[in-house]
Amino acid sequence: MNQPSQPVTSRQTDPHPRLEETVLKHLAYPWRKPVAAHNLEAFRKLERVVEGWKGQLVLDTGCGTGLSSIALAHRHPEALVLGLDKSLLRLEKHTASIGRYHLERIDLEDFWPLARQAGWKFAVQAFFYPNPWPKPEQRLRRWAFHPVFPDALACGGLWELRTNWEVYALEMARAFAIATGVSSKVTPWCPHEPETLFEAKYLANSQSLYRWTGEVPEH
Ligand SMILES: C[S@@+](CC[C@H](N)C(=O)[O-])C[C@H]1O[C@@H](n2cnc3c(N)ncnc32)[C@H](O)[C@@H]1O
Repeated sequence: MNQPSQPVTSRQTDPHPRLEETVLKHLAYPWRKPVAAHNLEAFRKLERVVEGWKGQLVLDTGCGTGLSSIALAHRHPEALVLGLDKSLLRLEKHTASIGRYHLERIDLEDFWPLARQAGWKFAVQAFFYPNPWPKPEQRLRRWAFHPVFPDALACGGLWELRTNWEVYALEMARAFAIATGVSSKVTPWCPHEPETLFEAKYLANSQSLYRWTGEVPEH
């Protein structure tokens, strides 16, 4: 993780013009993808972890090596933090620390629909440096454009996004506002101490960082 890191470059310099159309389509037509067996198995493990837990749940989406899950567990000592990532390679680099958190390998594309069906609600959902997929034709892989977006919203909570690509944050803020009616601004993010491996890498390379938060309204 010591390699130099370049800022994101893209032909896309503003939120994509088809964002609204895509979000509205996904809200109108629920996603029905069959869940992969290994993700269902991982979700069953998570159910056993969550079973009996009466306090708050915090979700660290794409937690990588889990550094941010430790930080979130310290920030929310009353909560149980679930750090989820599809990369075993990254999760295996985790160095255990004290705190109430649990890391699991699972694809969020399958996790969110299962969590929604199970009625799980999170106090916080952290999106720390998701893969930007900066080519315009890759946009459906960004969470704001993804068909699983409504399932993630149904799991509630205060969403916090950090990214080194401002367009990603602007799109997330816009998609969230379209879906929930809640608008909030993207702001520069200048942490004193990095809380994730990628944050550390970007700070070491003097990259500009951006943060957005939005609270899913309770119905
Ligand atoms: C750029 S890394 C950031 C990791 C960590 N949050 C950090 O800041 O150091 C993005 C992470 O998201 C994970 N990821 C991407 N798509 C995912 C998905 N569909 N389900 C679960 N994890 C995913 C990747 O495996 C990777 O670890």
